[in-house]
Amino acid sequence: MSDEPAGIWIPPCSQPTEEHTDTTALPDEILLVAALDFGTTYSGIAWSFTREFEKYPLRINSLMWSPIVGPSQATFKTPTVLLLKSNKEVVAFGYAAEEQYGELADDNAHHGYYFYRNFKMLLYENETLRNDTVLVDDEGHAMQAKDIFGHSIRYMKKRLLDDLQARGNMIRDENITWVVTIPAIWNDGAKQFMREAAIMAGIPVKQFRLALEPEAASIYAKEVLIERTRGNIHQQMPSFEQGTKYIVLDLGGGTVDISLKEIAEGNNIKEIHHATGGPWGGLTVNKEFMAFLESLIGKDVLEELKKNHKSAWLDLERDVEAKKRNISGDKDGRILIQIPAELLEIFENKKNKKLINAIAFETKYAGKIDIKRNCLRVDKSIVETFFKTCLDNIVNHTRSLLGKPEAAGLKYMVLVGGFAESEYIREELPKAFGQKLQVFIPDEPWLAVMRGAVLFGQNPTVIQTRISKFTYGTNVIRYFMTDFDDPQHKIEEDGQPYCKNVFNKLAEIGQSFKLGENVSTEVFAHRADMRKMKVRLFKSTEKDPRYVTDKSCTQIGQMVVDMPGFGMERMVTVSLCFGEEEITCSGINESQKSVHVSLNLLGDG
Ligand SMILES: Nc1ncnc2c1ncn2[C@@H]1O[C@H](COP(=O)(O)OP(=O)(O)OP(=O)(O)O)[C@@H](O)[C@H]1O
Ligand SMILES: [Mg+2]
Repeated sequence: MSDEPAGIWIPPCSQPTEEHTDTTALPDEILLVAALDFGTTYSGIAWSFTREFEKYPLRINSLMWSPIVGPSQATFKTPTVLLLKSNKEVVAFGYAAEEQYGELADDNAHHGYYFYRNFKMLLYENETLRNDTVLVDDEGHAMQAKDIFGHSIRYMKKRLLDDLQARGNMIRDENITWVVTIPAIWNDGAKQFMREAAIMAGIPVKQFRLALEPEAASIYAKEVLIERTRGNIHQQMPSFEQGTKYIVLDLGGGTVDISLKEIAEGNNIKEIHHATGGPWGGLTVNKEFMAFLESLIGKDVLEELKKNHKSAWLDLERDVEAKKRNISGDKDGRILIQIPAELLEIFENKKNKKLINAIAFETKYAGKIDIKRNCLRVDKSIVETFFKTCLDNIVNHTRSLLGKPEAAGLKYMVLVGGFAESEYIREELPKAFGQKLQVFIPDEPWLAVMRGAVLFGQNPTVIQTRISKFTYGTNVIRYFMTDFDDPQHKIEEDGQPYCKNVFNKLAEIGQSFKLGENVSTEVFAHRADMRKMKVRLFKSTEKDPRYVTDKSCTQIGQMVVDMPGFGMERMVTVSLCFGEEEITCSGINESQKSVHVSLNLLGDG
């Protein structure tokens, strides 16, 4: 079988290598932290042993994935692709899923199989993610998003356990902390969704953590740079002492996440601006490449290839990906795309002419494209334009962030993520920012998030301060203030004027929260026999929204608070923690007993 894992330790820095297999553990002792970096385009697994972490934090292992077709060699990441049978049984994940689906398609036996790719991006695009959100694959098969994620996480988890066992390491599941990466720009509902998917995949709550990708990236960048200065390997490296500010651009496949950080006391990290970004990852280039082919060849022709010649279509996509990675091209600077024979045939049947002749008369790209031996030869200058949209977005967004007061004194820029491997990006971003900032690209930037997630799992308190992305609050009713309140919110109770829908602010956009810092709000019973109280939680892009019905406000979830006892005087204090990687909630009643508060951020009513 392809894709056989072979765990390999990759030394990012100069450290002694040694396989560590001591599995004697106290009950519940965490011996190993494993990160499942679940990317839009590529996914991977990395881990380190807790007993080694203190001494050698960068001694991080990664699972290896091997494709059988194509020229590529085994890598530390595999495509985020899941193949299932019609009964929803998992067939394969990663390269193996792509290859097996291609083989099935060759025999026209792929119908009925479920084939999901790039599905993580759909969570980003889905504003109203619910527990029952459904995703549709290429062939129109629908499946619950949570099942797709749950199956993928379960597969990766099993892969690591099998690999450890194969190497004689008998570590037990209960001695592992599992970290799953997510983009920081995901909303709170998407984070809850991922947590629930992980639980479905058999990861116990207490052994699970989410790692925000830019945080993971910044932890890794900090560790590598500190390690290098310590070892004095590169004299030109910054010292990264306390107070050093740096900007991290995580250039992934789907998204680009940008965050501003500062080195805090004890080599910890302080967030100085919340992570922002957009869908400008490497996938944008593939999409533009495909749109270019579509404009040349015809949408109908490509659609038929995709529908009826799946394997050839997958080959074409793989070729586009490979050529995007090597834009130096041939000796004349041309990028060569292999045109499948099936495509030439479909073109001829549909258009009554040969593609080679049609391209020869293409005036828009005169002298810059031609076809020779079934190869479309495209001038490098055309391919470079496919990078332009995302590059412009990245540059403009980064400029606007660097213009903010929080960025004053910032000197260093760190580029990570797979897209930071791109020759074009490596040239253009330093051109845009290299005058003012020192730009660093750590070795193997595409593994930074995965390794950083392991470091985060080993030491979650490394992020000491986080910045609130929104203003958060609950809805309350208070006395109506005639000169202040909008009459549309006025209600009367027992002859008294009240104002409903008032935004009760708990956290302000841009506010800094220390790790574990809580904000409390009091919830009163409004019926003597009340057992549970529903409190709605809102977010706003404004600093001071007045009413929860303001344009800037969206309900993000609701809390259900247990109300023990009887009577109207009962009061429960609900604490929300904004300093963690996701909002958490707890509550106590007047007699100082903790009460159950459930926080649902998935908009399921
Ligand atoms: N040498 C290269 N040149 C150009 N692009 C590259 C190169 N190497 C990798 N990439 C691109 O990097 C992207 C993958 O990066 P990465 O693995 O960091 O993303 P991801 O984790 O899948 O996505 P995300 O972080 O958005 O969820 C792909 O779009 C891939 O084409
Ligand atoms: Mg990523």
